[in-house]
Amino acid sequence: MTLTEPRAGAEQRVTLAPARLPLNAASTMAPLGPSEGVRIEALHAFYGSFRALRDVTLQVRPRSVTAFIGPSGCGKTTLLRALNRMHERVSGARIEGTVELDGVDIYGPAINPVRVRRVIGMVFQKPNPFPAMSIYDNVVAGLRLTGTRDRRVLDEVVERSLTRAALWSEVKDKLRQPGTSLSGGQQQRLCIARTIAVEPEVILMDEPCSALDPRATLRIEELITELREAFTIVIVTHNMQQAARVSDETAFFTMGDDRAGYLVEMAPTTTLFTNPTQPLTEDYVSGRFG
Ligand SMILES: Nc1ncnc2c1ncn2[C@@H]1O[C@H](COP(=O)(O)OP(=O)(O)OP(=O)(O)O)[C@@H](O)[C@H]1O
Ligand SMILES: [Mg+2]
Repeated sequence: MTLTEPRAGAEQRVTLAPARLPLNAASTMAPLGPSEGVRIEALHAFYGSFRALRDVTLQVRPRSVTAFIGPSGCGKTTLLRALNRMHERVSGARIEGTVELDGVDIYGPAINPVRVRRVIGMVFQKPNPFPAMSIYDNVVAGLRLTGTRDRRVLDEVVERSLTRAALWSEVKDKLRQPGTSLSGGQQQRLCIARTIAVEPEVILMDEPCSALDPRATLRIEELITELREAFTIVIVTHNMQQAARVSDETAFFTMGDDRAGYLVEMAPTTTLFTNPTQPLTEDYVSGRFG
């Protein structure tokens, strides 16, 4: 199934290429092939005439966690949003360059951006359950949009998604209550459940814990560690310990005099934090800058 074809069944995983790496691919850190995971090449992002990102080239390994770190305003959110074609929804915003998922150009002429956003889902900084919807309806909102009405299928997806999001036991007896009645940490797990309900391949998380207390943060971090077995995860975080705890690889960005963000270096997380090659990275991770 490709991004250009109509969806055959909502419960079916929408992939761009059938071949997936074995579960242990991330831990081996073997060199990546040209079509594996998310490949970003010579990406520039603009808001009108302002260049927010300059010449970003990097590859996100499938079924692993990649952290994007860097000072405020260096373009981390912009980059995430360019990865699932949300950036272009801002009036006057555009990109140059290439973004591929499993070797397929997500900006290709035949690609449907709506489908891209299902295959490459996003979790936002502030938990944002749909306010007028119950917990149940929040989880299946995406499936309903694509026409899934079968109650049995929806029930299964709700239980499976909430279980994978480590929320099922806390909400199984109150699925009809509003999503907004949950605590902040629970709401964020509900948003993760909503994202995984449509079986994406990639999950983009933009500072998913910044509105949460330490306990809820830990819960989400544990969840990320579990989800990496099944999904490719990119997380933006200002919390260096968090990047160190949850990610396999880390990309450090900063910005130039023209405020355009650029990639300084990307490496296995331990290497980036303990033995970076660039002085700018060293300054940032040691807290001397940013
Ligand atoms: N909608 C927009 N219109 C115009 N400029 C924007 C818009 N959104 C972001 N920018 C600019 O693009 C640059 C990158 O912003 P972005 O939000 O991607 O940074 P960030 O690294 O995510 O920062 P933070 O860590 O504070 O979230 C900034 O200079 C910002 O002012
Ligand atoms: Mg941001």
